[in-house]
Amino acid sequence: MLFAVLLSLAGLAHSTTFSTQYFTGELDESSGVLRSLKSSLDSSFDFSPYDVFNNRSGDSHYHTGDLTLRYRVGNATAWIDADTVTNRVPLTNSTTSNSILSSNLDRTIGNVSEDHLSITRAWTEYEGDLAVNFTLTNRNSQPIEIGSLGLPIEFNSIFTDRTAVETLQKCVLVDPFIGLQAGYVQVTRLLGQGPHLVITPLDLDTKFEAWRFLTEDTDTSLAYQSQVFEGNYEWQIYSKAYAEQEWKGVEPWNSPTSLVLSPGQSISYGLRFTAVSDVKKIEPTVFALGHPVAVGIPGYVVPKDLEGQLFVNTTVGVGTVNVSPDSCLSITSLGSNNGNWIGYKVSPNQQAFGRCRMEVVYDTGVIHALHYYITDTGPSTLANAGNFLSEKQWYTDTSDPFGRAPSIITHDKSVDGPVLQDNRVWIAGLSDEGGAGSFVTAAMKQSIQPVASEVAKLEQFVKETVWARLQLTNGSTQYGVRKSLFFYEPSAVPGYDYSSDFYWPGSWDKDAAYLLDRAYDYVHVSALYWGLYRAGRIAPSVLTLRPSTWYLVQSYKTVLFAFGSQPDGSENTYYNDLGLMGETVWMYLLNDLRAENYTSEATKLESIMRSRAEAWSTQEDPFGSEQAWDCTGQEGVYLWSKYFNYTDTADKTIASIRGYMPTVAHWGWNGNARRYWDFTTAGKLSRIERQIHHYGSSLNALPMLENYRSLSDPTSQSSIYDLRVGYGGNQGPTTNVGDDGFGSMSFHSFPETLAWDDYTGDYGPGFLGQVLGAVAVVLQHPDFGWVSFGGNLVSSSQGDSDTLVLEPRDSARRRLYLADLGLDVSIDAGAIQQVTISYADRQVEVDLVDRVEGSGAVPATRAAVEYAVTSVSGGEDVKLVEDGLTKGRYGWEAKFQSGKAKVVFEW
Ligand SMILES: *[C@@H]1O[C@H](CO)[C@@H](O)[C@H](O)[C@H]1NC(C)=O
Ligand SMILES: *[C@@H]1O[C@H](CO)[C@@H](O)[C@H](O)[C@H]1NC(C)=O
Ligand SMILES: *[C@@H]1O[C@H](CO)[C@@H](O)[C@H](O)[C@H]1NC(C)=O
Ligand SMILES: *[C@@H]1O[C@H](CO)[C@@H](O)[C@H](O)[C@H]1NC(C)=O
Ligand SMILES: *[C@@H]1O[C@H](CO)[C@@H](O)[C@H](O)[C@H]1NC(C)=O
Ligand SMILES: *[C@@H]1O[C@H](CO)[C@@H](O)[C@H](O)[C@H]1NC(C)=O
Ligand SMILES: *[C@@H]1O[C@H](CO)[C@@H](O)[C@H](O)[C@H]1NC(C)=O
Ligand SMILES: *[C@@H]1O[C@H](CO)[C@@H](O)[C@H](O)[C@H]1NC(C)=O
Repeated sequence: MLFAVLLSLAGLAHSTTFSTQYFTGELDESSGVLRSLKSSLDSSFDFSPYDVFNNRSGDSHYHTGDLTLRYRVGNATAWIDADTVTNRVPLTNSTTSNSILSSNLDRTIGNVSEDHLSITRAWTEYEGDLAVNFTLTNRNSQPIEIGSLGLPIEFNSIFTDRTAVETLQKCVLVDPFIGLQAGYVQVTRLLGQGPHLVITPLDLDTKFEAWRFLTEDTDTSLAYQSQVFEGNYEWQIYSKAYAEQEWKGVEPWNSPTSLVLSPGQSISYGLRFTAVSDVKKIEPTVFALGHPVAVGIPGYVVPKDLEGQLFVNTTVGVGTVNVSPDSCLSITSLGSNNGNWIGYKVSPNQQAFGRCRMEVVYDTGVIHALHYYITDTGPSTLANAGNFLSEKQWYTDTSDPFGRAPSIITHDKSVDGPVLQDNRVWIAGLSDEGGAGSFVTAAMKQSIQPVASEVAKLEQFVKETVWARLQLTNGSTQYGVRKSLFFYEPSAVPGYDYSSDFYWPGSWDKDAAYLLDRAYDYVHVSALYWGLYRAGRIAPSVLTLRPSTWYLVQSYKTVLFAFGSQPDGSENTYYNDLGLMGETVWMYLLNDLRAENYTSEATKLESIMRSRAEAWSTQEDPFGSEQAWDCTGQEGVYLWSKYFNYTDTADKTIASIRGYMPTVAHWGWNGNARRYWDFTTAGKLSRIERQIHHYGSSLNALPMLENYRSLSDPTSQSSIYDLRVGYGGNQGPTTNVGDDGFGSMSFHSFPETLAWDDYTGDYGPGFLGQVLGAVAVVLQHPDFGWVSFGGNLVSSSQGDSDTLVLEPRDSARRRLYLADLGLDVSIDAGAIQQVTISYADRQVEVDLVDRVEGSGAVPATRAAVEYAVTSVSGGEDVKLVEDGLTKGRYGWEAKFQSGKAKVVFEW
């Protein structure tokens, strides 16, 4: 004990401090790795996990400044594995001449024989920033092939043993842009406010080919690879040696390469660390440091009927643009350039589906890799998902001893069948996110495209399973929602054959599964009812068992129970004081209760939400969840804080989202809110791993997009940054739906997998956020001119510049935001087919159709229109033209005639 303390004190003393123009910091004296890094923008904030460095300073823990490699000599076929981490040997001969610290690493890089390679590392000040520069020299008489070279990156993403407030204030998240020579890493503070850090290549040899998770012993590393410490990754310059072994059979982000170093030859690689004051300055900083920057509009997910745009900011010309697989996208120059920006039209190949890599090759030979994803059209994605859920996921075995039939149940793609057993019982038990996800998707889909046969199954599911067993139907616990219908208790289900493929001890028994106390589960069931209410409201013929208002009231009572208590005073649920995933649907519920004249119910619901918002307004960190740190609460916190005018809390929430939701030229990371543990609660391949497009993407996009619509300067660079983040987050979860309609819970980002998880799991909240957030936005961009996020501008650049014609291409086609006018329009039925904005006539015409062609939805007979006008600079007093509309229960309504209707605004 005493010995340990002395050691740690000794450790603290032994470091090399440095200061550059923009940074101060410390290097560990014995290993020379980074242990502290503070920017002059805020010298009280340390990017490094300085305060716990000693807890993981020994062997086998990765830090910034370490190096990993795989190489082979001459004609050898086996790779030699080496790193500076496994067996650290204290460095004794470091010098500070011409550098902060230069060290020969030969002794500490185990397995590298001295007659093979010599490796040095120099920390230097580079144009005021910090840089680390490694040099490898071939000391052999034969060529040496470097099959992998990795630069581990560690900053303070360690939440272990920290309070929520401490975590928010001290910690950062690290996210990559795996863009080859234009690649970079961003290190953003959880608080969302700067300083942040951007890590760029020091030279053109340091290309960013892959992003590899670094495995550590989880017991001795402050809970490495757990909910409180996701773990560290490395920037891989070459990856061939992994691609042909551990990653065999997987299509990597970039083509794997290696380098052959001739006898006597040297090569250097390095990283540069630069502080930025604001997340919005990350891209301009990358550009200012000499690298090209790409901006895709609306992002890097392209539905088959959308024409995207790509702009690259570069000081040199573009030679060629290549795509892989062959012709997955076609690229045409937009002709006009603005400043350094070169623009392209990006059109998907109608036969393509899924990932599509693009390489922009500049005249200098620099290669900039971008990563796209091609989806079906939005309406087809919804139609396919609805069909898959109601055909493949419809479970009818009424002899099931757990009473799960009939239902829409979790699906396992690898066996193309239902998940009837899992030791995470909720996944097979129709509740919690992992088991309720599929019925949430099915219900939300019906609120957009009500298909009679699909609605019929959902009604049957409600009648025979939900309002029967998943929920309690009488007594003081009426409306209570069980945590799972499936459980592990052999004695309660005699003769049931629990699979020996699972380790069952610890799984919920019947009592645990039947608890009613998890507030999150009430959102799912209330969304199910609300989806059916909306389906019936817009297509009355689809409901055959109950009237639409029955579902509305069920939805309300389900929410009410979550906030109620038992006669003995005990509260019905835990966590109802936190923001809950998907609760945006409750705002719709509130408005619909009012519309249907359930006034006292609406008042009650509003007062419950007000008291939550009030509480959040007094909390330094109102973003709690079941976990130590999370990004699930922000949606609800923003929603009600905004609604009840707690502006500071709303603004703080948006800032926090900026801290964990990047925008980069990669479909997987663009708008991808940080999620890394839910494969363990809802995935088939269960592990802690950065998730691509789990529900955080679209749920956090809801506040980002809502906030965007309230900004008075929506065409400023700063506002457009938020729009890009939000739009990326909204589009993300459209990629989860395969061409067969299977909706995966998330994509595995580890390079040995790079695939969709086989479970549908908790895709539901992601789908909910996707459809509730779906929108087409039009704005005049300061650099690119008129652009649309989520639509095609079919006549913007033609002769008459006073008229814009937009065709929405988002999934729902029910919402429109015309940023220059601050005009926010939504309809509750049918679809927006075309929008004509005539500045000369001071008029916006919104043409509606009663359903999207090919959706199979029941055509709407009328559409109610809602609108709001944000006061934007240069805005006009835009008003709805009421002539030709009727005032109905849900507002002004347009009647469809021969399938068409129209709504007009003027100023
Ligand atoms: C880190 O080490 C210090 C002493 O060296 C110890 O007091 C502390 O509990 C450790 N922290 C964690 C999170 O394990
Ligand atoms: C390596 O292989 C080449 C071509 O097969 C051969 O010419 C050369 O002699 C080999 N070198 C050694 C050292 O085995
Ligand atoms: C050295 O090589 C051995 C055998 O390949 C491997 O088990 C060990 O992990 C390697 N050590 C390092 C430091 O990579
Ligand atoms: C360190 O320097 C001494 C003196 O120059 C030399 O003898 C020794 O081999 C060096 N050690 C290492 C690890 O390079
Ligand atoms: C990195 O080190 C090498 C070898 O000393 C040197 O030639 C190169 O200029 C350094 N790179 C930078 C950007 O300082
Ligand atoms: C694009 O280039 C201009 C210089 O023409 C620069 O001012 C701007 O910061 C760059 N923006 C981005 C996002 O790269
Ligand atoms: C709404 O309810 C109130 C009170 O029950 C009733 O007076 C009123 O007529 C109702 N309005 C509509 C439009 O149904
Ligand atoms: C919030 O403020 C706006 C504008 O002042 C006001 O119209 C609205 O009624 C307020 N909302 C609530 C719930 O108090």
